[in-house]
Amino acid sequence: MTLTASFDDGSLSLDGNLLETHLYSGKVESLIHEVEKAVEKIHKRTGAGSEFLGWLDPSEMLDDKELVRVRDKASRLRAETDTLVVIGIGGSYLGTRACYDALKPLLDFNKKGKGYSLKYAGINLSAQYHIDLLEKLKTRNFAINVISKSGTTTEPGIAFRIFRSELEKSAGKKNAEDKIVATTDRNKGALRELANSEGWETFVVPDDVGGRYSVLTPVGLFPLAYAGVDIDALVGGATEASIACREENLERNPARLYAMFRHLLYKTGLSIELMASFEPRLAQLIEWWKQLYGESEGKDQKGLFPAGAIYSRDLHSLGQWIQDGPRIHFETFLAIEGGEPSLKVPKSANGNSVDELDYLEGRELSEINCIAQEATRAAHADGGCPNMGIYLPKLDEYHLGVLIYFFEYACAISGYLNEINPFNQPGVEVYKKKMFQLLGKPGYEV
Ligand code: PA5
Repeated sequence: MTLTASFDDGSLSLDGNLLETHLYSGKVESLIHEVEKAVEKIHKRTGAGSEFLGWLDPSEMLDDKELVRVRDKASRLRAETDTLVVIGIGGSYLGTRACYDALKPLLDFNKKGKGYSLKYAGINLSAQYHIDLLEKLKTRNFAINVISKSGTTTEPGIAFRIFRSELEKSAGKKNAEDKIVATTDRNKGALRELANSEGWETFVVPDDVGGRYSVLTPVGLFPLAYAGVDIDALVGGATEASIACREENLERNPARLYAMFRHLLYKTGLSIELMASFEPRLAQLIEWWKQLYGESEGKDQKGLFPAGAIYSRDLHSLGQWIQDGPRIHFETFLAIEGGEPSLKVPKSANGNSVDELDYLEGRELSEINCIAQEATRAAHADGGCPNMGIYLPKLDEYHLGVLIYFFEYACAISGYLNEINPFNQPGVEVYKKKMFQLLGKPGYEV
């Protein structure tokens, strides 16, 4: 049984060497067969929810004309504005935010000092949050991208009313029309009706792609193109990964191996997967991953609880629990191996070495960060917390595309291993219904 795997082009690798004592070889052999059955369900489209497999081939998911419109509208808005308010919740915004934060150092925003910034709304109902954002927008020239597949989600619906009215006030009703872009269902839903009647530019969320799998559709690609992300490279990375994920040899397919490892650990009684990274610009990527796995797997009283941590920060808050608390979790480390900028530990300012850091003088921060990660992995493994590592050679659009597809594909396998439908989210509807009852929405009276 292999404990490591890498895509052939080296774009992503998985290290499970520290899992050895937690995996039982008998179970591994039978699981290999289960994984093959899950993969067959995905590709033959015979599993539950197979009508939502549109993401499986990223290059097919988008028609070229739609991509041209995405790029054109993004560049026209860049010429007129400096900020895009992305209004959406869950799968309608998490992927965008994950990519924007991860790629920020590569964007025009930082290179030229002129910003194309993304702000987010529709993710909460806090009055203060909305007031603060409205205040910030007073000094910005902003546009709006409202995103809702169903077109009826309350939080983005309310936020859209607020920010649309502000935009019409500041830019004038006529000018505002060009600065509103709606991303929604092709034919149905309140947002589709509204957009058609107002004549706003619209993009389509494909029928066969669920919200949490939609980052590489116009849901994510339009705001990311606005922010200056190379969306072709992002989709290109995902497309290459989609080919690599077809590989049957586990040593050459880290997505299959990751799904296998996490399922084996779940079957040993562990109930939490803690996705940890020593890179703070991956914090939102971990939020996206939490939704992808939480909403896909948490069904029929089954599924790992997806939690996240950013280190070193959280080693000084959660570290004690992770090292010595109840043994109910395992960790997956998300790491970037190269391409990080240079920053060396300087000489002590006054020649005084009382801080005992002289031995690190001249060493790269990125190297120290890697060593901190390997030390943490070893310490947690010693404490009985099994862990594995997902390694990217560098963090750019291409490798982010690879990572996104890797997680999506492994998530689909994981869902089928747990014998649930990985593509629906019936549980999310329950709170919505209760909220409608309490708010007195017509048709929802108790
Ligand atoms: O993954 C999903 O489908 C959900 O998280 C949705 O994205 C989220 O509930 C928002 O729904 P909508 O885009 O319909 O407003």
